[in-house]
Amino acid sequence: MRYGDLRGWIAAAREIGEVRDVRGASWEEDIGRITEMLHHTDDSPAVLFDDIPGYPKGQRILVNANATRRRLALTFGLPLDTERRPLMDEFLRLTESDRALPPRVVPDGPVFENVLRGADVDVLKFPSPFWHPLDGGRYIGTGVVDVLKDPDSDWVNLGTYRVMVQDSRRVGVYISPGKHGRQFRDAYFKRKQPCPIAVVVGVEPLLFIASTLEVPQGVSEYDWTGGIRGEPYEVVIDPITKLPIPAAAEIVLVGFLHHDRLAPEGPFGEWTGYYASGERAEPVLEVEAIYHRDDPIILGVPPNKPPYEPHRYREYLRSALLLRELKAAGVPGVTDAHCFGVGGCRLFNVVSIEQRYAGHARQAGHVAAMCRVGAYLGRIVVVVDDDIDVTDLNDVMWAILTRSDPERSLDIIHRAWSGPLDPAIHPDEKGHNSRLIIDATKPWEWRDRFPIAIGPDAATKRETRKKWGWILEKAVADAMREAAAAPAE
Ligand SMILES: Cc1cc2nc3c(=O)[nH]c(=O)nc-3n(C[C@H](O)[C@H](O)[C@H](O)COP(=O)(O)O)c2cc1C
Repeated sequence: MRYGDLRGWIAAAREIGEVRDVRGASWEEDIGRITEMLHHTDDSPAVLFDDIPGYPKGQRILVNANATRRRLALTFGLPLDTERRPLMDEFLRLTESDRALPPRVVPDGPVFENVLRGADVDVLKFPSPFWHPLDGGRYIGTGVVDVLKDPDSDWVNLGTYRVMVQDSRRVGVYISPGKHGRQFRDAYFKRKQPCPIAVVVGVEPLLFIASTLEVPQGVSEYDWTGGIRGEPYEVVIDPITKLPIPAAAEIVLVGFLHHDRLAPEGPFGEWTGYYASGERAEPVLEVEAIYHRDDPIILGVPPNKPPYEPHRYREYLRSALLLRELKAAGVPGVTDAHCFGVGGCRLFNVVSIEQRYAGHARQAGHVAAMCRVGAYLGRIVVVVDDDIDVTDLNDVMWAILTRSDPERSLDIIHRAWSGPLDPAIHPDEKGHNSRLIIDATKPWEWRDRFPIAIGPDAATKRETRKKWGWILEKAVADAMREAAAAPAE
């Protein structure tokens, strides 16, 4: 790894020319607007905001950290030019279960440079932006890691669950139904016990990514991240909640959630591209202490219409996890998978297979729709043959339009796992949704008589481009135009 903490990551990204500094942008409007622009521009840089009006110099916000494959490679400690499939393979290798390493508890860390307790607690001390114009409040927690512990075991789970500022001493935490943090929280609430929580605002992007992904049940994201880094993650124990928190975190808010202390949370611009879950009553964290480094940095990952920053890297990582889960479920002959950014890497997933037996395509489709990676808030799964490029929307649509026939090719799964964020479900009926499986493979029974597709295979295409690609180069076209326009001698 070329970096240790978030500051180290920024320095490493700066060294390879991937960071821009922006001064004077307002938390009320500019930062949200600029971030939206970055999220929707290919190859846009990571941006570090400083000199935010109303806040001391040095209070910074980093956005767009992992928007490019180059920066994602940096985050995972891989060569910067790693291509899509090798990156996915490396990610799967680095996250093999036998690599996981428990965190190392250290007595102190930079996170304790400033300790605010009692009357000193002031969440408004930090420049939390208003990310979208119709948000119900300022969100300090977007690129956030929430640490919770299972009340019945030693399992410490890290999840990215958004955090809205209520006032100087209280924040609201939204956790979707079914998420691990929600299961823990509800287990405490059922017993009418307070639920300890540490809200980590600003860590290096690898732990953040871990907390946004489907890490296996019972495995702590600290262990998983330690496995990728090849060394234990350093944590300190918060004296109030007894939870382990990253020793080099930028800002941490700690305290307890209570079953009977709720406040309105939302609306918030969400990953589906809507303010879909509106405003609800959610548990409030009455902040008992704030720990922060000198000149702390907030990691900002506000949702925007898909695809936005996380979708750019989740296209690789969730697709890789889907491949792993299909294999683990015993589906043979899976050649590739792609969770499309346009569907937030959840709503539209495609799997390619080398068909081996009758029913194989349906098996792949149903497992992809219902395995852990696919189960929450999915919509459409498409299964294609292995000659289709699963990352190419055009190729996938062509397969759907030419190989499927609605009466033979569609399955619907009813009453699947959804929740308040689902824009397509009536506001009073959220909870379940349905799934469409499209079998866009050549029909098994007559696959040998299926019309032969026009066009070269991938290897032939590559060969043609290598030999004749110069025809497409702009410089060649310009030279030819100039030659044609030149007066005859
Ligand atoms: C940028 C970002 C923001 C997210 N915000 C939330 C959120 O506010 N609430 C939530 O329940 N899940 C949110 N998620 C999804 C969870 O972090 C994700 O499902 C993760 O796997 C949850 O951890 P768990 O599986 O251990 O529960 C977000 C994901 C990303 C990438």
